[in-house]
Amino acid sequence: MHERILIIDFGSQVTQLIARRVRESGIYSEIQPFNSVTIETIREFNPKGVILSGGPASVTATDTPRAPDGLFTMGLPVLGICYGEQTMCAQLGGKVEESNHREFGRAFVNVVDDCELFHGVWKVGSKEQVWMSHGDKIDAIPDGFRAVAISDGSPFAAIANDEKKFYGLQFHPEVVHTPHGAKLIENFTHRVCGCSGDWTMQSFKDEEIKKVREQVGDGKVICGLSGGVDSSVVAVLLHEAIGEQLTCVFVDTGMMRKNEAEEVVSMFRDNYKIKLVHRDAADLFIDRLEGVSDPEKKRKIIGSTFIDVFEEEAKNIGGADFLAQGTLYPDVIESVSFTGGPSVTIKSHHNVGGLPERMNMQLVEPLRELFKDEVRILGRELGLPENFVGRHPFPGPGLAIRLPGGVTREKLEILRNADAVYLEEIKNAGLYDIIWQAFAVLLPVQTVGVMGDARTYDFVCAVRAVTSTDGMTADFYHFDMEFLAQLSNRIINEVPGINRVVYDITSKPPGTIEWE
Ligand code: XMP
Repeated sequence: MHERILIIDFGSQVTQLIARRVRESGIYSEIQPFNSVTIETIREFNPKGVILSGGPASVTATDTPRAPDGLFTMGLPVLGICYGEQTMCAQLGGKVEESNHREFGRAFVNVVDDCELFHGVWKVGSKEQVWMSHGDKIDAIPDGFRAVAISDGSPFAAIANDEKKFYGLQFHPEVVHTPHGAKLIENFTHRVCGCSGDWTMQSFKDEEIKKVREQVGDGKVICGLSGGVDSSVVAVLLHEAIGEQLTCVFVDTGMMRKNEAEEVVSMFRDNYKIKLVHRDAADLFIDRLEGVSDPEKKRKIIGSTFIDVFEEEAKNIGGADFLAQGTLYPDVIESVSFTGGPSVTIKSHHNVGGLPERMNMQLVEPLRELFKDEVRILGRELGLPENFVGRHPFPGPGLAIRLPGGVTREKLEILRNADAVYLEEIKNAGLYDIIWQAFAVLLPVQTVGVMGDARTYDFVCAVRAVTSTDGMTADFYHFDMEFLAQLSNRIINEVPGINRVVYDITSKPPGTIEWE
């Protein structure tokens, strides 16, 4: 078994980043919510060390979350981050108090003593940039600890108990705004916990192939292939594991980008020789969407039509024992909610939920432990071409949610053409890999223009481009004006039906990435 680090989640917005940093240091890690973790679950997981995440609660209130007390007598190294540091202090006999000197955002710490976590990166006497986000402060540290870094707001910005291998950081080393944070985490996993870094994508791939073979035996598997990175990686991994036992189903919803259906089919059927059913269901989808302009209704219609079609095709191939899906780790983590109650649905996401029960299939989810960027690395490991692995995300409901106001064949055609010109320009400018996602939206608005000597009365096209790491937050991309000028010219000249182009300068939040 690989070396592992356990992260106990106290509800910080950035807990997932801790797991990513640990994995980047070559160690497998998992997150368990504080309210389900016990000494038994820790023993069962068998980690080389434990990290306590930050969180929104205050240690000073009664009844706030704690690490299981027994954790501190298991002989395991522990790193407490922010709330994690505070609860560790409170649980080991230190003192935490509310502070009127809150620290949020960029801050500086002074390194006052040597520490294993700082090895090779922070020296005594140096001033280092970090990211803080805390209201409470530690007033007294438990016996056996010493302060190794201080800041204006925290006399105990970093603390160490070398004998027990307990460390605490008041700041967040997992975010990029703490420039040496990744190194501090690597020092914890390697130098303090003694890990060697045995987790690589090559080893993950080999193990996952073995697991799939064991799970599936000689059963039949179907996999919905959309052409997106996740489902493509699942398909190729499964093909390598079980060959002919896999059938992929590509449902062309008619909402795909230009030439997409042909590219996906030729890539998988012709290059990989994967058994692939290509169902052209464009008419069915477009007919069912006729006259519908409410975004949620559109999403629901597309979702249920997709399931109907997929079910038909699954029956056509004589059914299957397993359904393969590209579920990722962020979808699996049980996130800790302090507000209680369900969170608000912003958008209904498109998936094949409900189908496995209806068809009595079990799920195969080989990407359940991975983050999006790790899926890309796995894709490369599996030999998928760069133009598939590096593709921008594309939503299940496709172009339908980029046509506010209603879907028609004519509008789909105009949008598809504008989108193709836009992506071509982005690729020509060498910006495709810098931008996380870019697409055109066709607005249900016509405006007056003049082309040649004639009056035009055509649609407005909005273009969107964002940078992001995970799609949860995003910034609009700052294009050069020359680029936008040339783009506008090309779209208006080359795409009949559009006579005006606008650029969307909204970040997320408050906007979402897609318009619907
Ligand atoms: P939003 O618009 O919510 O999008 O900011 C965040 C990311 O998710 C994609 N997206 C979807 N992906 N099915 C998907 O597979 C969906 O229904 C869906 N809706 C949005 C969106 O393109 C962006 O990358």
